[in-house]
Amino acid sequence: MIYNEQLTKIITEVAQVSGYLWEKGWAERNGGNISYNITSVASELQSLKALSNPMEIGITVPGLRGAMFLVTGTGKRMRYVATEPMDNAAIIRICDNCTHYEIIAEKNIRPTSEIPSHLAIHNYLQDRSIGYKAVVHTHPTELVAMSHNRAFLKKDVLTKLLWSMIPETRAFCPKGLGIVPYTLPGSVELALATIEQLKDYDVVMWEKHGVLAVGETLVEAFDMIDTLSKSAQIYINSRSMGYEPEGLSEQQMNELKDAFNL
Ligand code: 13P
Ligand code: ZN
Repeated sequence: MIYNEQLTKIITEVAQVSGYLWEKGWAERNGGNISYNITSVASELQSLKALSNPMEIGITVPGLRGAMFLVTGTGKRMRYVATEPMDNAAIIRICDNCTHYEIIAEKNIRPTSEIPSHLAIHNYLQDRSIGYKAVVHTHPTELVAMSHNRAFLKKDVLTKLLWSMIPETRAFCPKGLGIVPYTLPGSVELALATIEQLKDYDVVMWEKHGVLAVGETLVEAFDMIDTLSKSAQIYINSRSMGYEPEGLSEQQMNELKDAFNL
């Protein structure tokens, strides 16, 4: 299928970031998934006939009637999304009842099992007129490891620790990391708990599972996870050299806050 220039750029960005997730070691087997709101760049696709029957989302998304998304397929490997994006992802359209979606292009590939979370988040972003279009979920090893320590799961404990490891994290992940207690992957409960956290954070940790980020572009969402992951690695490397890292002081972090207008 031939796509317009803007949509082609988005497909290329999805392929590129999927490759990063694989190279980072965050995407074992089919781990991770991506969705991109393409409604405003692909109006010509509205006329496409459905390739599938309407499929239930599990939640109602009243803000998304007729909206279209590029979504990675369930069971698909990020390393293959990277090389063959349209063999491993589909374009879906939300039905008029706002409880179902149908696949409209390019192949009849069933979307990620995390579709309730992805669509609940897009609905939330749409409702609040937040210009974010991209959602990515992945399994960054060090961050997930840190979520196995209960002490880190109290509100903003991990955020402050990760901010203090390197100035970039304070500057480029300014809202920090929200925490969702362990919840069944793919469940509506996970979707609802994630939206709650997105009121305060752009990146959310799914305890003992992975991380989810939202952004204006997919690269921006990826970069926030990458920055947090770098901090996690610095912390773990310091601990494995036998010491607790000192971390930036409160004053140094406040100075960054002022310098970057955070
Ligand atoms: P999917 O293959 O269904 O996208 O599942 C991967 C995953 O990471 C679930 O949380
Ligand atoms: Zn996952």
